[in-house]
Amino acid sequence: MTEVFNKIEALDERLSELRKQHKTIGFVPTMGALHKGHISLIERSNRENDTSVCSVFVNPIQFNNQNDLLKYPHTPESDIEMLSNEGCDIIFIPSREQMYPESLKLENYHFGTLETVMEGKFRPGHFNGVAVVVKRFFDIVQPNKAYFGLKDFQQLAIIKDLVRQIGSKIEIVECGIIREVDGLAMSSRNSRLSAIQRKVAPYIYEVLLAVKEKAGEMSIEELKAWTLEQINREDLMKIEYFEIVSPISLMPVNEQNKHLGSVACIALYMDEIRLIDNIILFL
Ligand code: PAJ
Repeated sequence: MTEVFNKIEALDERLSELRKQHKTIGFVPTMGALHKGHISLIERSNRENDTSVCSVFVNPIQFNNQNDLLKYPHTPESDIEMLSNEGCDIIFIPSREQMYPESLKLENYHFGTLETVMEGKFRPGHFNGVAVVVKRFFDIVQPNKAYFGLKDFQQLAIIKDLVRQIGSKIEIVECGIIREVDGLAMSSRNSRLSAIQRKVAPYIYEVLLAVKEKAGEMSIEELKAWTLEQINREDLMKIEYFEIVSPISLMPVNEQNKHLGSVACIALYMDEIRLIDNIILFL
């Protein structure tokens, strides 16, 4: 039976009970409008823990674009149904007041160069907002393990650094990207695409796959130029960045170190809808 909580106090009481029974807790934070990508995280948490907790909260402080926040899809009934069907034990859907009471002092986190590139560069303040809400959830849920998708590659690096900074024992579990059959990475924002945009969107992954194929023969500079050319050819897409970076430092790789690990990350707009994706080139 899935239980839904809106208040921290009631959730805390239930979780304390479970902890007393020595149940392990897996935690999956989300912003709702759930799809199979999110559900794959729940599935993994169910497999690895006695109890799975999923939070659904559209975190206002991680949106640097108010229009994006206003237009963010909300599908609470379908979220609850999907989570129940997957056997998620506990759903936590807090209000803004629960998450950010006036008495709460908002921390300011620093992630060095991890937050000055890619998403961090184009969405100032975004990762601090993510870190604040994730830390708050960690304090409330106190899970043994927490699950994050590689779809948000940079977010994962930030969360791992956050856990290190706060000295937390929570194990961060990385989960692979779930895609539609046509290759488009699943995202809550996909539901905002028009029919024609949706038809074109799988081109992103098509280009990334080609990048991976060419990574053996082309230099990093050639790969970057080639990719920009491919995306610029598509009138419905406006590229924001394409970077080939180290999966650890997120710094651009060069010809000397690229084989030690590199991941190609892309962000682009289709009208005002922002899509991101990535692919591992060398690991
Ligand atoms: P949201 O975008 O809802 O994503 C919740 C989790 O699902 C993230 O860890 C994300 O990487 C993962 N996810 C999304 N699409 C995926 C896909 N196609 N395949 C695999 N995993 C996928 O990320 C956030 O919310 C927020 O920043 C949050 C961490 C909840 C903090 O507010």
